[in-house]
Amino acid sequence: MLLFSGLFFLMQHHLQELRASFLDQVSKAKTVAELEQLENAFLGRKGSITNLLKGIKDLSDEEKKVFGKMANELKKELEATLAQRSQEVEKSQFGNLAGQFFDVSLPGKKPAVGRLHPLTKFIQEVEDTFLSMNFEIAEGPEIEDDYHNFTALNIPADHPARDMQDTLWAKDIPFLLRTHTSPVQVRYMESHRPPIRIVCPGRVFRKDDVDATHSPMFHQFEGLMIDTKTNLSHLKGILTIALRRLIHPELELRFRSSYFPFVEPGLEVDVSCANCKGKGCPVCKHSGWIEMLGCGMVHPNVLKSVGLDPQVYQGFAFGAGIERLLMKKYAINDIRLFYENDPRFLEQFPHV
Ligand code: DAH
Repeated sequence: MLLFSGLFFLMQHHLQELRASFLDQVSKAKTVAELEQLENAFLGRKGSITNLLKGIKDLSDEEKKVFGKMANELKKELEATLAQRSQEVEKSQFGNLAGQFFDVSLPGKKPAVGRLHPLTKFIQEVEDTFLSMNFEIAEGPEIEDDYHNFTALNIPADHPARDMQDTLWAKDIPFLLRTHTSPVQVRYMESHRPPIRIVCPGRVFRKDDVDATHSPMFHQFEGLMIDTKTNLSHLKGILTIALRRLIHPELELRFRSSYFPFVEPGLEVDVSCANCKGKGCPVCKHSGWIEMLGCGMVHPNVLKSVGLDPQVYQGFAFGAGIERLLMKKYAINDIRLFYENDPRFLEQFPHV
């Protein structure tokens, strides 16, 4: 019959407490890291069970045997519980990766990064270009009246030039959707005195059926510069700098005489084809040149309509279609691509 000492009972009780505490904490652990910490705290070299076993030296030989056996069995039990719980936690933490091929050298997935629409981006480039030449940006309403869209621009009611543009009229009220950005010139001159230097990008509307080159809504930018001595050479210089910056640094410009009611003389500007650099290709219909915009010296009647004396003031104006320009710049063959927002189209334009 063995008689155990008080110390033995004390150590036995302590061992049971450690067991209960370990099992409780292991069952609550949710990560592999937590389990590793518990293993260290209880079973590690400086763990509490290891510590308790150090007290064994004060027990009798018989007690040492019994306590040593108990302690070993407990360690085994705790290690087995830990191993099982580790498996469960690993599975919930990482999924069951066993048997799955995982190539750690694969590049990560690229996040989808947004970008500005090519039209928005080009409008910003137009604004930056003209701001750098001391122009201001002006805006006008998209819903216009007959006076600003036509009459003040030297296009009287019975003028054949009104047939040049198919107008979208409002029903029953005397308004229309502006057919060009030129009315912004008029509105600006009504409220500002020279010197004037403005650029006006914006939406315009025409009664056109949609096809590869037509859309009832598209964009233009208008330019206007008025002072006492502003002349055609200024127009040529400003347009050459601007278009070289917006399209191609080595762009060549060709000025041809043309007709627009609101300018005299009126000119059309052709630019060397950015696609073939003037050699000839389908984009420029093998001519090497592309019609780019209309411009000219502001007609005296336009100046008079805003109360400016044409004997004192003179200047130039220009107007260009943005979609058309971008189609030529990037060899895009269908205007509808600008409005469909197909990412396969939009992704081909550079990031901002
Ligand atoms: N407003 C014209 C159009 O839409 C373009 C234009 C031509 C604007 C000559 C001008 C200009 O300012 O001088 O077709």
